[in-house]
Amino acid sequence: MSDITERLTQAQVDQYHRDGFIRLERIATDEEILRLRKAYDRIFAEQAGRESGDQFDLAGTDEEGQKAVLPQILNPAKYAPELAVGDYLGVLNTIVKQLLGPEAEAGVAHAIFKPARYGAMTPWHQDEAYWEPSLNYTSLSIWMPLQDVKVETGCMQFIPGSHKQEIIPHHSVNNDPRIHALVCEADDSKAVACPLSMGGCTLHDSRTLHFAGANVSEVDRRALILGAGLPTTPRTDGRRFIWNEIKETARQKREEAART
Ligand code: NI
Repeated sequence: MSDITERLTQAQVDQYHRDGFIRLERIATDEEILRLRKAYDRIFAEQAGRESGDQFDLAGTDEEGQKAVLPQILNPAKYAPELAVGDYLGVLNTIVKQLLGPEAEAGVAHAIFKPARYGAMTPWHQDEAYWEPSLNYTSLSIWMPLQDVKVETGCMQFIPGSHKQEIIPHHSVNNDPRIHALVCEADDSKAVACPLSMGGCTLHDSRTLHFAGANVSEVDRRALILGAGLPTTPRTDGRRFIWNEIKETARQKREEAART
């Protein structure tokens, strides 16, 4: 299809490096998105990966039997391999190599489901705040909704230029270490919202401050998140992310129980 962005222009590459994010109108056909959506809906209906800690509530305390306000599945392609094949991956691979270099490769990372009417907001954070602090990263995330999204559905919002800073202090939502989601201070007067039609996506640096509002609409919001990066290198400055050291989530407990 001719309206698919198969390669970024130099202006788009420059914009990504300047702002720390970019919005692309179309990287996949409607047919492909509908195919992905079928697999996506199936694994959320099955709560795939619950036992192993891959499925959990990102924004709640995640007790058994409690209604999840922001269900997430890590490594969704483990449960639905069809998510990790298709033309869209070829398109994204060309794009991430333009942005990061030839070693970068896009892979399906996780899926976040924001239910109609009660799906919780994803608070301001930098993705790297979730990761291993002793490594240096050159990486990005690709956020691909499987339907149209606007502010009321929980589209992505970014603070331009915020990727040029180190990781700022984060803490668990409500300071509750049982909640997986992290939050940090952000000046949201500078936020740029990125509504998208089905088939579009946003890409952002691992340090870019971003947020997605609650889903107050009548439609479920499905997002598939892919990652791409260069090989990590060790840091020697003893960086610590205290907010991760004190986490105590039900997800971690299930993961540990599944391992033993
Ligand atoms: Ni994020």
